[in-house]
Amino acid sequence: MRAVRIHQYGGTDTLQLEQIDTPKINADDILIKVKAAAINPVDWKIREGYLQEFIPYLLPVTLGWDVAGIVTAVGAQVTEFKVGDEVFSRPDISRDGSYADYISVKADEAVLKSAKLDFAQAAALPLAGITAWQCLVDVGQLSAGQRVLIHAGAGGVGHLAIQIAKAQGATVIATASTANQDLLTQLGADQAVDYTKAPLNEQIEPVDLILDTMGGKVQEQSWALLKKGGMLVSVADQPSEEVAKAHGVKAAFVFIEPSSRILRELNTLVEANQLTPLIEHRFPLEQIAEAHLQSQTGRTRGKIVIEVS
Ligand SMILES: NC(=O)c1ccc[n+]([C@@H]2O[C@H](COP(=O)([O-])OP(=O)(O)OC[C@H]3O[C@@H](n4cnc5c(N)ncnc54)[C@H](OP(=O)(O)O)[C@@H]3O)[C@@H](O)[C@H]2O)c1
Repeated sequence: MRAVRIHQYGGTDTLQLEQIDTPKINADDILIKVKAAAINPVDWKIREGYLQEFIPYLLPVTLGWDVAGIVTAVGAQVTEFKVGDEVFSRPDISRDGSYADYISVKADEAVLKSAKLDFAQAAALPLAGITAWQCLVDVGQLSAGQRVLIHAGAGGVGHLAIQIAKAQGATVIATASTANQDLLTQLGADQAVDYTKAPLNEQIEPVDLILDTMGGKVQEQSWALLKKGGMLVSVADQPSEEVAKAHGVKAAFVFIEPSSRILRELNTLVEANQLTPLIEHRFPLEQIAEAHLQSQTGRTRGKIVIEVS
């Protein structure tokens, strides 16, 4: 089968489209024929070697940890899937990924995809959607009537987070550059904030919860935007407990874990027309380097999808 692997860390020239054996499955795995994969910033961060200490790979490794496709084999212990099922998954990041014709994933990391999603949309949802749900609902405990600020509301995580937060009944404030203000409103944000126009504290009244997808200076500016007792949840930079304490707020860092429970929650929102992934760019597997370069611009609206077959 075809797979895009890296044999060393580095630039996009390390991405090699190769012929390799179809992966074997364990007793608790399913084999998925990949219809679509999606790009996430973690893909090129791993490719560059930025996460070597955190996730030690034995190279070569196939990149890509969002997948939608069709089950072509099931392990001996798997009862919940059969050959022909249409599934989606954000699989274990320590195993080979989805830039390939086939991927082997644990059955409990996959879910039947909603019929309302085509394969490209289903591939766009898992990693970014699970991240948004874990931050807002599981850790942030967002409830109806609360005010939530979502940084980078036009991005892969942010555009799903806006829709998930609206579905929880929250008042949603989201940030983006001038060009993406209309998109924030279309996604359901109650207040679209242009971070290029004025400091955030001049535009945003205090909020209960902040989803920080940016870290750095954006995180620094965020503390002053929280109500006392509020919470900042970051996926970008580990927030300081001391700084949080000094502001009378809570803070947490989330690193996404696979979750079929959350994939089912996302399916439910899709079925209720409350969640639709936005795909700005589609590339074939052969153009994986272009797809990575697009992600590295930091300017993508919604998601980048690789149409594999
Ligand atoms: N810890 C975890 O488990 C986890 C999980 C998922 C993602 N992440 C991380 O979260 C970050 C975001 O991921 P993503 O997939 O959403 O990235 P992405 O899709 O590449 O984000 C692109 C978006 O960022 C926006 N943006 C750039 N600078 C901004 C700023 N100063 N303020 C507000 N928006 C800004 C851009 O909008 P404009 O062009 O309008 O500025 C663009 O739409 C990445 O660093 C990723 O690695 C971590």
